[in-house]
Amino acid sequence: MSGDEFIQPLFAVQGLKNPESIPGLTGVARESEHSLLTQIEQDLENGVRSFLLFGVPESKRESGFDFTFPERMISTIKKRFGSDLFLAVDVCLCSYTSHGQCGFLSPEGDHVDNSTTVAELARAASIYAAAGADCVAPSDMMDGRVAAIRRSLDQVGRPDALILSYSAKFHSKFYGPFRVAADSAPKGTNRVLTDRSTYQIDPARPSDALLSSRRDADEGADILMVKPALAYLDVLAKLSAEIPLPWAAYEVSGEWAGIELLAERNLVDGPRAHLESWTAIRRAGAEIIISYGARRAREWIQKYGNAK
Ligand code: PBG
Repeated sequence: MSGDEFIQPLFAVQGLKNPESIPGLTGVARESEHSLLTQIEQDLENGVRSFLLFGVPESKRESGFDFTFPERMISTIKKRFGSDLFLAVDVCLCSYTSHGQCGFLSPEGDHVDNSTTVAELARAASIYAAAGADCVAPSDMMDGRVAAIRRSLDQVGRPDALILSYSAKFHSKFYGPFRVAADSAPKGTNRVLTDRSTYQIDPARPSDALLSSRRDADEGADILMVKPALAYLDVLAKLSAEIPLPWAAYEVSGEWAGIELLAERNLVDGPRAHLESWTAIRRAGAEIIISYGARRAREWIQKYGNAK
């Protein structure tokens, strides 16, 4: 491990005046348009090159989504930093919808509708790519979205843009701090709408992760992902051995925050515990680690030395 394996998540919040800290997510903030650029500048100086951007819009809707905020952020970032940085952009609707689900609801309002959602995700992805994103990362878990996104990237003249697919994303309790940061928790009242269990993978059904990862590879994904990381290392080891594409693992918000909170109470040595987790994630087959601590990785690896 050198530090080059890491991708740093960034939250850009429309209309925010000053950066805001996020409970549990030490070292990461909800950034304003201005502070985001300063943060990226600082990260680049420290040798961090790869980022995953989450755009958080000012207002929520049920349809008629407006992607001009992330579009503007992407083009500003790419104009300013060019190929000094690799910019991946998350593609999902959960920060945009008033109900917090990852897509459009059916006319009856009782489930998330796959086909209209896929079309909208493809539209968002094409806007991000046209604005200069190096990579789009669909995190919604709808069926067929990678193929639709691939076509939409071709249509806007960006066949070179990569697709990093959240291909094996489980229905997890470890996403808590992220949902505060992205203001994206599901808010529905019936069971189908209070969680995402109808489209995220059941932790007890790893075979679904293999099927959806194969499907995403067939549909044209360039990089596949397992998420969360630590609780799914068996899945990562198996899938990365089986499907010959680069694999990423997302050390999600609850995983990062868990170690940070233990360290805060002096119950573990934070940096070394993070390094141990990252080593395990690499050992299980991930080439790429998405971590809230990406911007600390290089320093910690140099200071404490490390393995793989
Ligand atoms: C959903 C999305 C999630 C994360 C990123 N995009 C999960 C969810 O809310 O279901 C989680 C990331 C994290 O916890 O760090 N679009």
